[in-house]
Order: sequence, then structure tokens, then C-alpha cells
Amino acid sequence: MRDLRKDRVVAAFSRAAATYDAAAVVQRRNAEQLAALVRERVADPASLAPFLEIGAGTGLLTDRLLDMGLARGTVTDVAPAMVDTLRERFGGRSGLTVRELDGERFTVGERFGAIVSASTFQWFSSLLDPLRNMRRHLNDGGLLAFCLFVDGTFRELRQAANAVGCPYPGHRLFEANEVARAMLDAGFTVDHFASFDTPVRYPDALRFLRSVRHIGSTNALPVPAAPGELRRIIRRYDGDHRCADGVTATYTTLLVLGHKRSAPRPMNNHNQGG
Ligand SMILES: C[S@@+](CC[C@H](N)C(=O)[O-])C[C@H]1O[C@@H](n2cnc3c(N)ncnc32)[C@H](O)[C@@H]1O
Repeated sequence: MRDLRKDRVVAAFSRAAATYDAAAVVQRRNAEQLAALVRERVADPASLAPFLEIGAGTGLLTDRLLDMGLARGTVTDVAPAMVDTLRERFGGRSGLTVRELDGERFTVGERFGAIVSASTFQWFSSLLDPLRNMRRHLNDGGLLAFCLFVDGTFRELRQAANAVGCPYPGHRLFEANEVARAMLDAGFTVDHFASFDTPVRYPDALRFLRSVRHIGSTNALPVPAAPGELRRIIRRYDGDHRCADGVTATYTTLLVLGHKRSAPRPMNNHNQGG
């Protein structure tokens, strides 16, 4: 269980609803990669209906699902202003329901052919219980496809914070192997599992952190970084990670696709002898 303040996460994403699309360069690419993976693995994406999308934000992935003919389902987000944006964009479409929903814990009186989510699960406090709950909401053999930012993301920021002796001003991201373990323990197959880095250039560290704020991915820690500490980290970042056209920030995305197994995998019994 990670020490995340969900109220801060929701408030930051709600504040970012109007600035998200312009700043979400890596998230847009993630959504494209996830959609391409589904298209590659599923001969007839329309057969996945009805789908449930978790953490839809402004609808970057939703657009791609519609493009591939997956047009019947429920599109959700936990942040009210994001849900308003989704309603404006997709509310008039027959076959699509837009609603507020916390992907970590929800009960919907319906089962889905697919659950999809782009760049969202890194905001969950834990993975196993949410994945088990998603499994309960899937038809037998149903598809779970998602991508999330994992450990390795913002390694330059972590290095700069370490170098000036300040705590890392972000939350701990899941490691890729934690995600694989949770998938298997929750009762899914893992049919695709691959990570990739996206290095992005920003004019300087301050502009990088501003862009993170425009996406809504600001500090979710119970105790946010003090302004003095942040200034020291920014100075060090600008010094250590400068290149000809600015500074680099690396994002690490994990792309996962699996299916609901008919019976959940038995848990390891660590108390067994021999
Ligand atoms: C980085 S955005 C990704 C949005 C969209 N999927 C995309 O690809 O652009 C993360 C989204 O997850 C939402 N979110 C965060 N925690 C969530 C939760 N527990 N349940 C549902 N949505 C959540 C945020 O409100 C935000 O809209």
C-alpha cells in the first residue's frame, strides 16, 4: 500500500482538465501504443463490447477505441472536471455512458468484454485488490489492457533530489515486476508485457515541473516538498541534466495485456515447510 493522498490526486487532475491536452505529449503516445496493441491482438475490436475505460481523462484513449470500432461501453474518471470534459465530448454518443468512478474500488452492475486504461494505474495505492475487482467485472476470458508509468520515470529528478540530499518530490511508482505479480495473483494471463522509455526535452527544469502540473500529475505525497527544497532540486537538475536544447526528463511506460483466467491462480503459501 502506498502513501498517496487521493484527495490531492483528484483535485490536481480536476484543475488540469483545461490544460491537459496541450501538455500530455507522452500520455498521448501511451494511448496510441495501447490502442495499437489492442488492434494487433484482437481481430475484431468491436467484439470486446461493452468495454469499461478507467481514468479516461479528456478522452485520448477513448478516441482511439472509437476509431477501431469499439463504440459501446462506459467511459469513466475519478476527477469531476475530467468527467465534465468527457461528457461534453462523448455524452451525446449512443452506446457510450460517461460516469465518475474510482478505478481502485467500484461496483458496477454489469460485466464487460474488456477493461482498458492508459496512464492511470500509477495513481493507485495498490494494484492487487483493484485488479481482482476488475476481474470480477469482466466476462470469462475478458481482456484487460493498460499502460502505466513505472519505476524509472523521472530518474533525472530523483538523481537531482538525491544529489542535494532532499526527499524525492513525487510518489513511489510500481516496479514492472510488481505489476506482473499482481496480474498473475489477481487471476489474469499476461500475454503482452513490455516497457519503453520516452526521453522528453524541456527548456529547463522549472518548465518540466510546470508541464507535469498542467497534466495534473503533481505531488500526491502526504507532505509535499518544501519550496526551498524544490528550488535546490531545480538548480541541480538544470546543472546536471542540461543538453544543447534544454533538459531531459525520461518517462518509463509499461504496456500490459492479459485475459481473465477462469479460476484465479492459487496464492503462494509462504508458511509451508520444505
Ligand atoms: C495521466 S491522466 C490519463 C488520462 C487518459 N487516460 C489519457 O490517456 O490521456 C490520469 C487520469 O487518471 C485519473 N485517475 C487518477 N486516479 C484514478 C482512480 N483511482 N480512478 C479513476 N481515475 C483515476 C485522473 O483523474 C486522470 O484523468
